[in-house]
Amino acid sequence: MSDDKNKPRRLRSQDWFDNPDHLDLTALYLERFMNYGTTPEELRSGKPIIGIAQSGSDLNPCNRHHLDLAKRLRDGIRDAGGIPIEFPTHPLFENCKRPTAALDRNLAYLGLVEILYGYPLDGVILTTGCDKTTPSALMAASTVDLPAIVFSGGPMLDGWHDGDLVGSGTVIWRSRRKFAAGEITREEFLEAALDSAPSVGHCNTMGTASTMNAMAEALGMSLTGCAAIPAAYRERGQMAYRTGRRAVELVLEDIKPSDILTRSAFLNAIRVNSAIGGSTNAQPHLAAMAKHAGVELHPDDWQVHGFDIPLLANVQPAGAYLGERFHRAGGVPAIMWELLKAGKLDGSCPTVTGKTMAENLEGRESEDREVIKPYDAPMRERAGFLVLKGNLFDFAIMKMSVVSEGFRERYLQEPGREGVFEGKAVVFDGSEDYHARINDPALDIDENTILVIRGAGPMGWPGSAEVVNMQPPDHLLKKGIMSLPTIGDGRQSGTADSPSILNASPESAAGGGLAWVRTGDIIRIDFNQGLCNMLVDEAEIARRKGEGIPKVPADATPWQRIYRQTVTQLSEGATIKGADEFRQLAKTPPRH
Ligand code: FES
Ligand code: MG
Repeated sequence: MSDDKNKPRRLRSQDWFDNPDHLDLTALYLERFMNYGTTPEELRSGKPIIGIAQSGSDLNPCNRHHLDLAKRLRDGIRDAGGIPIEFPTHPLFENCKRPTAALDRNLAYLGLVEILYGYPLDGVILTTGCDKTTPSALMAASTVDLPAIVFSGGPMLDGWHDGDLVGSGTVIWRSRRKFAAGEITREEFLEAALDSAPSVGHCNTMGTASTMNAMAEALGMSLTGCAAIPAAYRERGQMAYRTGRRAVELVLEDIKPSDILTRSAFLNAIRVNSAIGGSTNAQPHLAAMAKHAGVELHPDDWQVHGFDIPLLANVQPAGAYLGERFHRAGGVPAIMWELLKAGKLDGSCPTVTGKTMAENLEGRESEDREVIKPYDAPMRERAGFLVLKGNLFDFAIMKMSVVSEGFRERYLQEPGREGVFEGKAVVFDGSEDYHARINDPALDIDENTILVIRGAGPMGWPGSAEVVNMQPPDHLLKKGIMSLPTIGDGRQSGTADSPSILNASPESAAGGGLAWVRTGDIIRIDFNQGLCNMLVDEAEIARRKGEGIPKVPADATPWQRIYRQTVTQLSEGATIKGADEFRQLAKTPPRH
């Protein structure tokens, strides 16, 4: 902050609104803001202009209440002596965008970069919620490196159906299995799913949305406790007000994303992800955010720093409860408090509060031990992502927090060869092929089958699809076998409770090993060594390469073509190629 409080340093926005060398341009920049009643005095006052990156719209229902919450953001900004300017971001509605909202994350990123870079903004509030709204916004804030703060919209209230908690997404995967096993009707399936959405807000399970908002908080980019407050609670509006105020102070104190987004902060986030039973989508999104922030984050960091962390949050899909109870139990700060006390968190990391993470966490111990477990008495030990490699891929992960006891017994604890599983591959080329053939008796799928799906990666789909959590054929579900080992170059929903090996990189469409596996091959998975190989000799693999890469759908929009030409693999965050250089580009001040 400036030494003399009455004489603040010259702000970025003053280059637009107070440029004595270019009166003509200043006039041009100023005049149209008068259209909605803004005065030249305000814009020329030297007060920080705070952008509100508005992610809510009718097309993004998970974030739509940000349209109302923006009022409290504005109140906070005004009371702290700033000027709010709200603008829309590209809609990113996870459940609805075809072929997948993942395709649009980099597009939303590019759009937000141009806005933050090219308009007279001194700082920005990133309104987040639905899955990709958080990473795309933080990626952009890093590129332009303007003072920025994340304001989450919060999850929906808890869903109830017939006296049971029903959580977003998770209810679909569970009902899907019950329906296939003939336990519920079509109507009951729909009712349970609709009951999981009782209010405004994003998914109320620890799916990708709640995970990514928790990641933003763990990174130090939102106020303490922001991520988990349910969307409909009064505290959400109060958090908006405080976030608005703090955004102005961030500009005056000149605290930028580059001050906060360090390697240490990212390792903290990886550990928090394990402890909350967070989404596998956190892997590519954190990789992408790190890349744009210029931080070294290696795919193996998930294994080295995350795998041994226990599951502490008893929240669906890994546990029993939903967002409301998680918030009341203390939310993300209570989880981080446990990690800090156990020596598993770097408490010295700076945060947007202006304090260190350890200072933020003071007094945040949970009092609800049903929902937030103590570090030494967790829900499950070693609950992070297992990192695997072999001749099918260089990198893939498996989320250990959702591996059920039944699955562990069947595949991980077979006496004599614990942790090693060999099975016959049944290979699907994309999800249409899977749906068309999964119940085909000719495939002869049994307990010893490994389901493989390819053509679902960033280039193949394009965007990478949440399809690896393939359910077994109906005849196995009826026998009570609810999951088989699955492998794929796509992703799975953060709300899924399936023990899949996913995010395989490089993908089949990029010539990765999955392109050369065939139905009937034996695949050996060694969970202890982190190895996954098809037992096919080199000569045969070389012969199959002559058959070419399995076909994927043609480009259907201009962006799909540009995306495919520019995207990296999931192990690298599926960013635009060269993302690590983008921060340097945006250091050049904008020309007029
Ligand atoms: Fe938007 Fe889950 S679909 S948060
Ligand atoms: Mg999803």
